[in-house]
Amino acid sequence: MRALTPDKLRFGAAYAGKWASQRVGEALDRPELARPTQVCAPLTSRCNFGCGFCPHPTAPVHHEMSLQEWKRILLELKDWLGTFRINFLGGEPFLHKDLFPILEFCAEQGIFAGITTNGSALTEKNARRVCELGVFNVSISLDSLDPARHDENRGFKGSWNKIMDGVEHLNRYRTEATRVCFRTTVMEWNVHQLVDMAALARAKGVVIGFQPVEYRDMEEDHDNPEDYTVPTDARSPRERFTALSLEAMPENLVGNWVTSIDVLNQQVERLITLKGEGWQILNSPEHLRAMAQVFARPDFIFSIPRDCKAGWEDLIILPNGSVRGCSEQPTYGNVLHQPIREIWASTAADKHRANCADCTRTCMNMYHWKRSVWEKAAMWWGYF
Ligand SMILES: C[S@@+](CC[C@H](N)C(=O)[O-])C[C@H]1O[C@@H](n2cnc3c(N)ncnc32)[C@H](O)[C@@H]1O
Ligand code: SF4
Ligand code: SF4
Repeated sequence: MRALTPDKLRFGAAYAGKWASQRVGEALDRPELARPTQVCAPLTSRCNFGCGFCPHPTAPVHHEMSLQEWKRILLELKDWLGTFRINFLGGEPFLHKDLFPILEFCAEQGIFAGITTNGSALTEKNARRVCELGVFNVSISLDSLDPARHDENRGFKGSWNKIMDGVEHLNRYRTEATRVCFRTTVMEWNVHQLVDMAALARAKGVVIGFQPVEYRDMEEDHDNPEDYTVPTDARSPRERFTALSLEAMPENLVGNWVTSIDVLNQQVERLITLKGEGWQILNSPEHLRAMAQVFARPDFIFSIPRDCKAGWEDLIILPNGSVRGCSEQPTYGNVLHQPIREIWASTAADKHRANCADCTRTCMNMYHWKRSVWEKAAMWWGYF
């Protein structure tokens, strides 16, 4: 049983307050009353890996905010949000030369910082520093139990071993303050291993979350760094998604899209049982079951009322300062040019929130999948 620490209480209270502010802001149509529950910050779109399913390896490099710019933004966020959490990712966050100074600044300011990484930079020295800085969550992407298959997918030989070494280092130095999590993308070639991967996570003392492989059809806009990404396909998201089951798969899904649905269903039911027995699996049972249905019949997603709250819950700050609620929707402001409170309360942000509510993309984002209050509380409990 994990301890109820003062940090956990502080974080839980702040989360609940922000969640309530979103419901009030939405009900009264007063977004200025609401606060996002989570800030995500891809520090760079650069990456040292070449995963076939990910758009980052070919992304052009725009301006990447400096340490000074980040410090200013972090203080602005703290002033607005009070206690909040920010997750640094990418591309690969360790490629940003100021990742550690940024984490140090978060620690000084009492900001809960997390990282999502491919694990390649989790040397003993770096893992120790991450733990010393009290980083509250380290998510590491792990795609297979088979080292060679993981390395092949990641386009980086030795990456699986680096992850296992990294977890050992983190386990040596971390306290209750730091949670470690495997983040596994569910694909055809790892679908039979999901339960065994959860067992590996448990054996290593880390939690695990499953994310279905997705159709990513946004690409970086070379000519318009402000807008950052644009859709690559003129069809509506609904047309594209429906076509998934009928046409040839887009390149990033070939060989990855799950077709062994019976296997997935068996794995999912076993995962749900294990979760009920206390295994730390982040997904809700509803999300796990829907995942199997969407792989079987992509247009199933249109039968689920989604009313996605990403525009209320999330604030994504891109490497160049552009702001979004959802990474698959266009930018609605830039923190280098406008105070964040103004951006959040702008007409463009309102439009973004409406787009999220109406969204019919291929998205199975587990954080925006509907959860019961109990599920939310369990996630908070497992977060530290
Ligand atoms: C974009 S990466 C950034 C952080 C870091 N480079 C990493 O790999 O963990 C964040 C997560 O997105 C996942 N991802 C990338 N492309 C995806 C896709 N097409 N569908 C689902 N997940 C994807 C990765 O496996 C990783 O867990
Ligand atoms: S390591 Fe992460 S950012 Fe890099 S290519 Fe793979 S999924 Fe994308
Ligand atoms: S469902 Fe929500 S999180 Fe997913 S792509 Fe649409 S707006 Fe974004």
